[in-house]
Amino acid sequence: MTVGRFPNTRLRRNRHDGFTRRLVAENHLSVDDLIWPIFVTEGDDIESEVSSMPGVKRVTLDRLAAHVAPAARLGIPALALFPMTPIEKRDEEGTESDNPDNLMCRAARLLKREFPDLGLIGDVALDPYTIHGHDGVIRDGYVHNDDSVAVLVRQSINQAEAGIDILAPSDMMDGRIGSIREALDQRGLIHVRLMSYAAKYASAFYGPFRDALGSGGLLKGDKRTYQMDPANSDEALREVELDLLEGADMVMVKPGMPYLDIIRRVRDRFAVPTFAYQVSGEYAMIMAAANNGWIDRDRAMMESLIAFKRAGANGILTYFAVDAARQLRDT
Ligand code: PBG
Repeated sequence: MTVGRFPNTRLRRNRHDGFTRRLVAENHLSVDDLIWPIFVTEGDDIESEVSSMPGVKRVTLDRLAAHVAPAARLGIPALALFPMTPIEKRDEEGTESDNPDNLMCRAARLLKREFPDLGLIGDVALDPYTIHGHDGVIRDGYVHNDDSVAVLVRQSINQAEAGIDILAPSDMMDGRIGSIREALDQRGLIHVRLMSYAAKYASAFYGPFRDALGSGGLLKGDKRTYQMDPANSDEALREVELDLLEGADMVMVKPGMPYLDIIRRVRDRFAVPTFAYQVSGEYAMIMAAANNGWIDRDRAMMESLIAFKRAGANGILTYFAVDAARQLRDT
């Protein structure tokens, strides 16, 4: 530990000029840290704004390449894809998740063709595909763990075969990482990576995302029988440990800002690639305040992102990815 005493030690000295502030900065944000979540929708020539997420759009596939091109040009390493499944294709069991021609798979094939170097992350969960908005299948009123895992395994293989590089199970079923890994390996898909939403909390901050995918109005009840209780932190370490033992290559903590302590504990304990998801509600809060003139959007954005790095995140899924990458390039 460094020691010192006032007045020979004055911590303000290093803050006196921009150049020393830069020299002593302990953490840095770079474009390599950014993952951009995007929403795709069916139809032609549509770009519709998500009303609770100003600046975030759902785009149809004919517009997808143009939508993604700025991110690719800026050098953002990867996108996370989320499909808005039309209501008539949703059912009790999330069958559409296993269709090789579903929206997600078509988007993945198109993006791999247009941007071969851009990493694609596929969310694995049933909520975009089920009529009840839950992440798994329901048996006797309960989201059934093992039956859900079986469907999630099929969804995973389907996405991997369409070109998704990193599968990101966000469903919080027990044992799904191991089952997905085994099924991938049996098919020789050994390079497909798993980024597990290991510590995912039952959070109010997902509200705008559920609007974006149209699953919010459908959701019956809540997700507290599978997503974690916000009161818990030791339990997050057990979730991460189990997922690592089952073969996760990277782990995620979600939401982001209210859970920086969890990111720090995970990183300190396991020293594995750890990602944070700055979720829709966090984005919406910053944008709402900024649009009211109550905070400076760009500064709040950059401050929130460096906070993830300080907490120990190796990367951040953020709806600000393109704006942040622009700011990093221009300053
Ligand atoms: C799906 C999923 C959710 C988010 C990512 N994947 C919603 C949920 O669990 O209800 C939320 C992302 C966000 O709020 O930005 N399982």
